[in-house]
Amino acid sequence: MGEGMRASVLFVCLGNICRSPLAEGAFRAEAARLGLDVTVDSAGTGGWHAGDPPDPRSVAVARRNGVDISGQRARKVAKDDFRTFTHIYALDHDNLEGLRAVAPRDATAEIGLLLDLVRGDEGRAVADPYYGDDAGFDVTWRDVTMAAKALAKRLASEGWK
Ligand code: 4NP
Repeated sequence: MGEGMRASVLFVCLGNICRSPLAEGAFRAEAARLGLDVTVDSAGTGGWHAGDPPDPRSVAVARRNGVDISGQRARKVAKDDFRTFTHIYALDHDNLEGLRAVAPRDATAEIGLLLDLVRGDEGRAVADPYYGDDAGFDVTWRDVTMAAKALAKRLASEGWK
């Protein structure tokens, strides 16, 4: 429960160039809409794309939906993330396992699967659109938007700032 505390949310996928940048963008927009004072970031369990901007297809789908994610840069999850963020959400099961595997003993963040936030979608993964076509990115946007709305509503109702 928040009780006036400031939440900080980290979204995690594999490369941090397709799915988690969209989750970051969608949640940033939804949090702003609800007036939540929250830190938002994203990262990858893999570091191959560190320093890269989001995939152009992610930038495009966000832009079509009124959100600019072009300024984001990929990074790998770090041990400190588990102590500095209050909530960390994995986009799929592999990355949830990856997070749990590298979490330090003194981790304080609540760690969960992103779509567990969405009633009726519990246990479902946000599919990796990287090797597919453009339509897959619309599916990703829809998934992360549902989760972003549910999360913003939950944080507001729990009393986070
Ligand atoms: P993401 O998608 O995890 O949603 O960012 C991927 C991006 C890059 C790779 C895999 C997935 N890759 O293998 O480089």
